[in-house]
Parts: sequence; C-alpha cells; structure tokens
Amino acid sequence: MKHTITTAIFAATASLATLPALAEDITVGLLLPYSGVYAALGNDIEAGFRLGIERYGDQAGDSIQIVTEDSEAKPPVGLAKTRKLVLQDKVDVIAGVVSSGVLGAVRDMVDGSKVPLIVANAGNDEATGAQCSPYITRMSFSNQQVNRPMGKWMHDQGIQKVFTIAPDYAAGQQMIGAFVDGFTAAGGEIVGQEWTPFQKTQDFGPYLAKAKASGADAVYVFYAGGEAISFVKQYDSFGMKADIPLYGAGFLTSSLYVEAEGPAAEGVIAALHYVPTIDNAENAAFVEAFTAANGRLPSEYAVHGYDAARALTQALAAGATDRETIAQALRGVSFDGPRGATSIDPATNNIVQPIYVYETVRGEAGLTQKVLATLPAEADPAGGCAMAPAG
Ligand code: BEZ
Repeated sequence: MKHTITTAIFAATASLATLPALAEDITVGLLLPYSGVYAALGNDIEAGFRLGIERYGDQAGDSIQIVTEDSEAKPPVGLAKTRKLVLQDKVDVIAGVVSSGVLGAVRDMVDGSKVPLIVANAGNDEATGAQCSPYITRMSFSNQQVNRPMGKWMHDQGIQKVFTIAPDYAAGQQMIGAFVDGFTAAGGEIVGQEWTPFQKTQDFGPYLAKAKASGADAVYVFYAGGEAISFVKQYDSFGMKADIPLYGAGFLTSSLYVEAEGPAAEGVIAALHYVPTIDNAENAAFVEAFTAANGRLPSEYAVHGYDAARALTQALAAGATDRETIAQALRGVSFDGPRGATSIDPATNNIVQPIYVYETVRGEAGLTQKVLATLPAEADPAGGCAMAPAG
C-alpha cells in the first residue's frame, strides 16, 4: 500500500529566505498493526499521523510520502516488515510500532541500519533505557511513566491492598512493575497478581475469581484494544465492579473504544498522558480537526500519530535532510501540544509530558473522561541508557 501526501513546497506567503533548503522527497514507513487485537489502535495512529502532516507539513518544506506495513502486533512479523521498509523501500524514517514486543524485536535492526524510528505507541521502557539508541525517539509514552505515579496517587486516596492483572508480555510486565514500585514505595500492599496469555485470552473469569477472593481494596490492570473491551465488560458482568473498584493504565477505557465497553466502563479510574477532555487551546483545535476529518473523537493513539508527524516536520523545518540529521534533530523536539508541554529528553530520547488521572463518566453525549488530577511531567530515569549527547 502506498499513499502520497505532497505538502506545499513553498507557501505563497512565506519568504524564500526563511524556508529550509529543499530536500529530496522524504519517505515515511508507517509500521502499525492493521490486524489482530491492536488493529483499531494502528488505524487511529495513522489517522492522527496524516492529520499532523496535513497540519504541519508545510513547515517542513519537503514532499512527504507514506508507505504502510502491517506488523500484526507480532514481533517476528514486525521485524520482517522493518527489514522490508529499510532495505526494499529505503524509507528515510519509520514511525509507529504499537506493541512493546514488536519494539523489542525491531530495536537492533533500527539501530544497526541507522534509520530513525519515531515510536508512536509502544511503551517498552528498554527502548529509552538500557537498549536506547540515537535512532529511536519516542513521541508516545513509556510504560513506567504512565503507571509509576498512579501507585502513589492511589495510596494517597486511602487504598491499601491491590490485586493486579495484565497480559503476559513486555508491556503488561513493565506497566504493572512500575505501578507496584510506586504503590509499595508509598506503603501499599500487593495481595495477588495474575498474568493472562497475550492475544489468546477470551475468558477472564478464572483470573477475576482469584481477584475477588483476595481481599483487595482495588484491582489494577493494563489492557488495551480488543482485550480491554472484553476485560472491562467481564469485570462488570462478573459482579466485581460493585465490590472492588477497577483502576488501571488509561488505555483500559480509551476514548477509542469506551463506547464499545458501555456502562461497564463507568466509574473506572485510570492514568494516561492524553484524554480528549484536556482543557487547553491546542487540544481544542486538535479535537475539532480530528473529529471533522474522522467523525469520532481522537484518542491517545491518534495524538501519538499527530505528534509524531509534528516532531518529524519540526526536524525537517530545522534543516534535517537525511536519516542521520533527522535522527539528531528529533532529539531536540519540543512544543505545546494537545497533551500540554511536550518535549524529548535528549538523555534517553523519551518523551516528557504530564500524566492525567481520569474517571470515565456519563456525559450528555455519551461516555466521557473527567480529569481528577494532573500529575507533573517527570523525565524517566536513564535506566542504563548511555548515549552521546545530541550533536
Ligand atoms: C505496548 O505494547 O507497549 C502497548 C500496547 C497497547 C497500548 C499501550 C501499550
């Protein structure tokens, strides 16, 4: 599949002196899941990316072409598609990657071939920690960044005992690990943990039965996409919601699929770096433009794509013309965007952004996100990342 977006090369009103030197065409390989439990996430990221190119592409002064590949959220498939994008399509930049497992699998290929990768979802901590690379820049979130502050916040609300459940792969393990660190450091106790086979679990009943019998004050989970919809519905139909409140990483009740969860999602409290109800002018403009283009509200996935496109155009506008200079320029990206102040920490190439605690509530137009707290932006610890400073 190949689509072309040609941005205005010279805006009529701009002075030639202010424009960067005209580069060759820039080809972006979008590596996203278009099938499997994360297919809807991939489509939303692509919609956000295309909107970001439309909105900011003129600043880049380049013609931007997009090639898409389906990773199926499977590490071996993601690696094969990355090889194709790099060796056959000879892309200048790759953007996307939804699953932490896929990010782990493609890391060495990206680093070794020196093709800049703008991560537009996968939170794998290692990619901006011990396995960091000057060619990997994250415009989404890291697994620890979203979950660590939620541990303290929940304990501050008086919750003492928590049971955790998550899919058994890198994202589940890292998100729950970070939550547990924050919660136990604040004085909380973990009374049980369950791991469900990723992409294979349809019946959460046996895991919910253990949580119910655990004596927990709350259950904390990470699920996303199709698994989130099934989990939230089963949690409610199992009669758990009335007795043990459900908390989690905010992908659980994403605006992308909260209506599919329906009343079962009401009252769930979660932490995330973006919800469409964030109150700032950049977000109001983004929500309006995305809704007009796609007929639905944007989600955190859409904002990852939108901000990835904005970061790329900022790098091109700063004069980057090839793989090496694009990778370098991405490390200095910063702007006020829909999620608030957004920047890249050049020590790790991870994003720095605020985290929002929100409750899913019923509003006039359906389910919506009520922001309960804004937790300040914090750069992740280097976690073993040792990179030369950005040049
Ligand atoms: C991950 O695998 O990193 C991930 C997937 C979906 C939502 C959030 C994180």
